[in-house]
Amino acid sequence: MEILEFAGKTHDESRQGEAYNPIVKDTTAYQKHFYIESYGCAMNFADSEVVASILNAEGFGATRNQEEADLVLINTCSIREKAEQTVRKRLTEFRSLKKKRPGMLVGVLGCMAERLKSKWLEEEKLVDLVVGPDAYRSLPSLIEEAETGQKAVNVLLSRDETYGDIAPIRLDSNGVCAFVSIMRGCNNMCSFCVVPFTRGRERSRDAHSILEEVTQLFAAGYREVTLLGQNVDSYYWIDEQNDDTVTFAKLLEKVAQVSPLLRVRFSTSHPKDITDEVLYTMARYDNICKYIHLPVQSGSNRILQLMNRTYTREWYIGRVNRIREILPGCGLSTDMISGFCTETEEDHQDTYSLMEYCKYDLAYMYYYSERPGTLAERRYEDDVPEEVKKRRLQEIIALHRIHSLESMQRDVNRSFQVLIEGNSKKSDEHWQGRTDHNKVVIFPKEQYELKKGDYVMVNIDSCTAGTLLGKVDSSRPVLR
Ligand code: SAM
Ligand code: SF4
Ligand code: F3S
Repeated sequence: MEILEFAGKTHDESRQGEAYNPIVKDTTAYQKHFYIESYGCAMNFADSEVVASILNAEGFGATRNQEEADLVLINTCSIREKAEQTVRKRLTEFRSLKKKRPGMLVGVLGCMAERLKSKWLEEEKLVDLVVGPDAYRSLPSLIEEAETGQKAVNVLLSRDETYGDIAPIRLDSNGVCAFVSIMRGCNNMCSFCVVPFTRGRERSRDAHSILEEVTQLFAAGYREVTLLGQNVDSYYWIDEQNDDTVTFAKLLEKVAQVSPLLRVRFSTSHPKDITDEVLYTMARYDNICKYIHLPVQSGSNRILQLMNRTYTREWYIGRVNRIREILPGCGLSTDMISGFCTETEEDHQDTYSLMEYCKYDLAYMYYYSERPGTLAERRYEDDVPEEVKKRRLQEIIALHRIHSLESMQRDVNRSFQVLIEGNSKKSDEHWQGRTDHNKVVIFPKEQYELKKGDYVMVNIDSCTAGTLLGKVDSSRPVLR
């Protein structure tokens, strides 16, 4: 680990990470180009990077300009009705592009491709390719088929595909933070959720390939990885070579050991599965970020049962208490759904009081959107009127705002180690980075010689609802 003292000069931006992102830089080297837009969760964004790698090997370079693309891909999400509407709107915009360039192919990838399958070709005449999340290896042959004017579809789900051997090509990367997919699919059957149907059975990726990817990322200048899975705590892989079984806690430890200068995050933890072993592993390694995303969905036991979340409010609170015992000060975030089938004002108040207990630093809140084919759609009536769902959502958002502002204010007049991720979005005169607890920090560059990927101590002097503002503590060394 190199420790630098402040040199007292300005410095132009780091060029880290380029070796790992070759296609976006030199698009002229390719005769054909693809343009990809991604929607939905981090797993979808990670998948787009696998797709980029597969296409790159076929001679397609990535472009950010849809006008010059031979192939336009949209990696879609089905989680809520609104997510699907956004994709449909985007597709109609591609229609005019296709009119101008009839040879251009349009492909739908991801969860909406899986959910609607070949219905796409009937509904959306402009779509040439439909490819589900487990079928990306067949993209080259599907493109060939589509180039002959046929419609090409592959939406087969797999029990073992993890794309473990494919080195993703980082798209739109800041060269510092990367997603690393450690598993695919989901075996839980939360009654509101479409994911088990669009992503198939859960399977864990070969731990060696995960470690190889992380090691390469670190060597290319990346300083933060987020290990991704719908339910990371159920990661389980049998290492036949070493006669060992790798649980999530073990994997986390192995990834943390790649370098003390590599920050490790993970998402998503399921309250029924997160173990003390994971919490103790987090406590042992300074570079495993003390931040846990623990979606609760509802604070009412009756609703949790209807949601098939398989834990109770009391169990959830027990897990939060354990996190706070083993990892004092650990950041905590959640997901919540308002207005699930049969939800009463009393159930809503239970969610409210749970929030008061947990005081989340960050929360993603939605109103319930019935999804075709899910258990809830088949079993329960979507009977909470939309205006009630939305009013309850506004109430939980308002409560969360108070908690998140309190959480930000607690950090004022304290110092944090910040990993610099790049320029602030609003000003080139400021850096933007994050604390271990996942809070965004903005601070002036001043005269210091810093670059992306450096760890620097920042004294926080004020905050907004979503950002900490401060100044570099020049008495403390920079780590790089
Ligand atoms: N696997 C994670 C978990 O168990 O929490 C996340 C799954 S999902 C990609 C992200 C979030 O979307 C969920 O936690 C839930 O709050 C929300 N969500 C899923 N289905 C929904 C629906 N039908 N209506 C509204 N929100 C939904
Ligand atoms: Fe959906 Fe539940 Fe699986 Fe999360 S754990 S992806 S909410 S089924
Ligand atoms: Fe959406 Fe599929 Fe992710 S439904 S949230 S893109 S797993």
